[in-house]
Amino acid sequence: MLKVINVVGARPNFMKVAPVVEAMRGRPAEFSPAVVHTGQHYDERMSDAFFRDLGLPTPDVHLGVGSGSHAQQTAAVMQRFEPVVLEQRPDWVLVVGDVNSTLACALVCSKLGTPVAHVEAGLRSRDRTMPEEINRLLTDQLSDLLLTPSEDADRNLISEGIPPERVRLVGNVMIDSLLKHLTLAERSEARERFAVAGSAYAVVTLHRPSNVDDPEALRRILRALARVSRHLPVVFPVHPRTRRNIEEFGLGREEELRGDIRLTEPLGYLDFLRLYSGARLVLTDSGGIQEETTALGIPCLTLRENTERPVTVELGTNRVVGTDEERIVSEAEAALQRTSDGGPPRVPPLWDGRAAERILDALLERTRALRPDGF
Ligand code: UD1
Repeated sequence: MLKVINVVGARPNFMKVAPVVEAMRGRPAEFSPAVVHTGQHYDERMSDAFFRDLGLPTPDVHLGVGSGSHAQQTAAVMQRFEPVVLEQRPDWVLVVGDVNSTLACALVCSKLGTPVAHVEAGLRSRDRTMPEEINRLLTDQLSDLLLTPSEDADRNLISEGIPPERVRLVGNVMIDSLLKHLTLAERSEARERFAVAGSAYAVVTLHRPSNVDDPEALRRILRALARVSRHLPVVFPVHPRTRRNIEEFGLGREEELRGDIRLTEPLGYLDFLRLYSGARLVLTDSGGIQEETTALGIPCLTLRENTERPVTVELGTNRVVGTDEERIVSEAEAALQRTSDGGPPRVPPLWDGRAAERILDALLERTRALRPDGF
């Protein structure tokens, strides 16, 4: 039996780990899963709400690291995670995505000789000013099993010299969560709460430091959103980093930024799924939302200069439009004019709701290769 520590830290981790833990619990003869929460995200709305909505078990260990500079946060996770690995002696530590907790835990394990499996390996924006790109590059170098969501990720890893036997295409585990919860989310009243049920509306999320930490960039984007809201109401669940900056920069007081933008606290998983799944258009700088909108066939404009998820542009509904005010407005207007062909969305291969099972199979297979004498 394989003892696996599954690490979560920040909001985008929860929907990737939940299906894996559930699948492991369904195969008790083969897997003994534990969940460690680093506490990188800690607000009720950034963390606890997701555990409830996704049916994630209460973490076996909570490291309680909280916020801080990159160095502080990464170091705090490392210091607190090391004794957990030493005490629990897992066969594998499974990390997901590209947040600081992902890299911190992978680094701890690589020094202790504990095998690391990285879910969502191989994505590259080629933009090293993004903290996530550094986290991705280094986590992949340290991992013993690289579980990729799409073929572009495999190509990136091989071109970086990662031995092919470590790489396994398993598909997109976040889509396991999405498909599982789509019907359940119909019970949410999120559309009614923002008075958009049955009508056309847009949904916005913004939290990248490059967009929200610079007053001019944030003002420019908010001005564009106010202009888009002349065409349809815009619902905007605001990340704590973004809210703090809107307040600090005094942008809430500026008349031209107002428009019909319906601001709200961050939403839980089911409420947010209910909201974006009915949207006419999504504007975002999130990585995960580019994938979720592709899976559902909802037009998405990515307010960044690049994406580490090119398959959402090549096959899906995503367009990378940058952060120029005129470009955002004209792309949004063009997207609103385009009508869907009514056919099912073009979804990348293996984004089929069964990635978690493939992850478990890959873990077993890789263990057999690493320990031919049995385990
Ligand atoms: C982190 C991830 C990013 C991910 C994002 C999703 C890194 C480098 N960044 O960015 O990849 O897309 O999460 O949300 O790991 N805060 C709260 N409550 C919380 C958490 C944070 O108020 O529960 C506030 C704090 O003021 C904190 C700030 O938000 O300083 C930023 O949080 P942090 O975890 O440092 O980065 P994110 O911007 O959330």
